[in-house]
Amino acid sequence: MNGTKQKLELTWIGKDKQPVLEPRILIEDPEKSYGDKTAENMLIFGDNLLALKALEQDFAGKIKCIFIDPPYNTGSAFKQYDDGIEHSLWLSLIRDRLEILKKIMSAEGSIWIAIDDNESHYLKVLMDEIFGRSSFIANIVWQSKDTPGNNATGIAETHNHILAYKKTSWFQPNLLARNSKQLANYTNPDEDSRGPWLGTPLTRVEYRERDYYAIKNKAGREVFPPKGSSWRRPPDKMKELAADNRIWWGKSGNAEFPMEKKFLSEVKEGVVNQTWWPYEFAGSTRNASSELKGLFEGEKAFDTPKPEKLAFRILELTTKPGDLILDSFLGSGTTAAVAHKMGRRWIGIELGEHCHTHCLPRLKKVIDGTDQGGVSKAVDWKGGGGFKYYYLAPSLLKADQYGNWIIDERYNADMLAAAMAKHEGFRYQPDAEIYWKQGRSTEKDYIFTTTQFVTIEFLDKVHEEMKLDESLLICCKSFSKACETRYFNINVKKIPNMLLGRCEFGRDDYSLNIINMPVDDNAPDFVPPGPKEKIQKKTRASVPDKQMVLFDEEDP
Ligand SMILES: C[S@@+](CC[C@H](N)C(=O)[O-])C[C@H]1O[C@@H](n2cnc3c(N)ncnc32)[C@H](O)[C@@H]1O
Repeated sequence: MNGTKQKLELTWIGKDKQPVLEPRILIEDPEKSYGDKTAENMLIFGDNLLALKALEQDFAGKIKCIFIDPPYNTGSAFKQYDDGIEHSLWLSLIRDRLEILKKIMSAEGSIWIAIDDNESHYLKVLMDEIFGRSSFIANIVWQSKDTPGNNATGIAETHNHILAYKKTSWFQPNLLARNSKQLANYTNPDEDSRGPWLGTPLTRVEYRERDYYAIKNKAGREVFPPKGSSWRRPPDKMKELAADNRIWWGKSGNAEFPMEKKFLSEVKEGVVNQTWWPYEFAGSTRNASSELKGLFEGEKAFDTPKPEKLAFRILELTTKPGDLILDSFLGSGTTAAVAHKMGRRWIGIELGEHCHTHCLPRLKKVIDGTDQGGVSKAVDWKGGGGFKYYYLAPSLLKADQYGNWIIDERYNADMLAAAMAKHEGFRYQPDAEIYWKQGRSTEKDYIFTTTQFVTIEFLDKVHEEMKLDESLLICCKSFSKACETRYFNINVKKIPNMLLGRCEFGRDDYSLNIINMPVDDNAPDFVPPGPKEKIQKKTRASVPDKQMVLFDEEDP
């Protein structure tokens, strides 16, 4: 050791490379939105890294629970997506997403990630790095398979991990409601007016001189703790318990070992969650497949769904009705469906076509109340609510045939204004009366985007309408030179120059669908160079194109 302080960290090829993401706008397609028009739930079609970046500004610090089930990197090709990417790439892709996910979590929020042994231990170290070791909540061991797996070679893997981290120490898990079996442990054999109780032993398997003494049972007999043990209560506390009829000596009153009565009315309102989640408690992958078969007329609809009961367990532990939930690897829509049925608000992101073939019809059935599978009966789901469907706007800039960056012609005036507000950190909120107030960053600081040529006369007119303490950023395609220094509180900038060099334009695919990464030295750089910089040749790797009835009475 040379004495230099070193950080404990996981390293991998390409760890130091991170994409500089373009903050895209999201566009609603009202044809695909469904149900209550005022609903805030969002189904987003597109790459989750870009979608998360798009959400970051508005949702920073707002998400109570994130449940994601990313591709496990198992090396097997599934019908809907390819899962066999190289470990380093997988780690980079997950890291980039986790960093934004952390930003949008609320102070009381938590993140739960389903994973298996292929990457779980690497993911744990990665999450320690991003969230901090002290933010680790638990590694839930979920018994994902309800069959013994006798066809496996070697040892059958019958569990998955759910790694859970909190954003801050404000996270407080909810207690689990007692199930019927647990409630049945509370009885009232002596018809105590305080209601049912559970007897807990009053002996401790350890000798303590102070607590080794005789007490009289109900029959008047003196009883000592067994040899080598002692009472769990000191003499004065024991007297108090006896006086309050809180010691049970059996029906005869002459038992050898007394019990302390713990009344149901006095204990915590539920039980603390455990890290072991058997399939009876959280469902199995087989349950998940049959839930989907039920929804999609008997066909095996999706290769890797999670059971609704698993999502239910996570949401009941971490959220209350009205809280905001996010799943950025939505798959067949399980998290959104369960969040909806449980009265939570939700955001789901899915890149695959199954966003349309699975998530949309599934969520519509939930809203109609015709999905009576999964957790529907347990939560008494009757239907209602709605969601809005969004897709990502194309990249704002594209290279023309001469290699110059221009605004993509698919952007209309509103889209451009919204995109520029986002790029500049303003909230897009067009004022109903004053046209140049399209968005604001503070109470008095506005942004206005126009495709018109900005003249001095135009600037003078706007300035006349402005209050002394107001400021304005005008983004335009071109302007007269004199505008630059005309007013100290009006800043005029030119699109696209003002954006060049800031982020990667023209890149749509940051997905996990990548199987291999051929290095193409001639591929164009995704980051348009800033005005003064020279175009650099790219050395970076390029990316090729390419739910049954739940809750049996016998829950453990
Ligand atoms: C294991 S599945 C999730 C299954 C889901 N929990 C369910 O119950 O149906 C992972 C999902 O992540 C999606 N995915 C992978 N990369 C993505 C990306 N970059 N953006 C959005 N979704 C992505 C895949 O298309 C796949 O549907």
